[in-house]
Amino acid sequence: LTKNLITIDGPSGSGKGTITLMVAEKLGWHILDSGALYRVLGIAAQRHGIPLDQQEQITQLARNMDIQFVLNEKSGEIEPVFEGENVGLDIRTDEAGQAASQVAIIPSVRDALLARQRDFYREPGLVADGRDMGTIVFPEAPAKIFLTASAECRAERRYNQLKSKGVSANMRALLDSIKARDERDRTRSVAPLVPAEGAFVVDSSNLTIDQVMAQVIDFVVEKL
Ligand code: C5P
Repeated sequence: LTKNLITIDGPSGSGKGTITLMVAEKLGWHILDSGALYRVLGIAAQRHGIPLDQQEQITQLARNMDIQFVLNEKSGEIEPVFEGENVGLDIRTDEAGQAASQVAIIPSVRDALLARQRDFYREPGLVADGRDMGTIVFPEAPAKIFLTASAECRAERRYNQLKSKGVSANMRALLDSIKARDERDRTRSVAPLVPAEGAFVVDSSNLTIDQVMAQVIDFVVEKL
């Protein structure tokens, strides 16, 4: 039985989030924003006063954390609710992204989140967004996409995205932060950021969202 699964992996700011929403909407499928899980975990650790390198305590937290996802009717985005509080805005800060990538290095944390992520699969299908969706979490997915773009492009997009959400941002700091996070994600020993075998690689640096979407849909139609 081939599952209706599309994985979209890539570095932060590559346009994954937007493309994931658009593909899911077009197909009427569900979404997994796996980065949000790591971001909530980072925030949860900070709120519980656990240093980000305390592997055992963070793993416990990952196993037990009380997190749900709700649809924001206004934006159409899925937002996490942690311990009863909507943290949709809090997880989007750059600090939360850095914290996420620090807890994401810990192998036992990744293990603890595996089943939770696989549980997101529902009929009629799932579009899963992350770093290791095609390599580790859903290796059986029939359609795998790897979306990338230059660090400069991604910093600029993140800048505009944060501004539009009313979050303050500094271009230079964002670029440094993106490069630091790329380095951590690409060089970690467990589930490093690499294209899955057979993934369709799209460099979105010089493409509009609609152009990326057109290429992705062509690929998906051919694979499913
Ligand atoms: O995609 P997003 O920027 O929200 O992810 C935040 C961080 O969470 C990433 O930099 C990465 O370290 C981690 N992450 C991961 N595996 C995933 C999704 C996110 O390690 N599948």
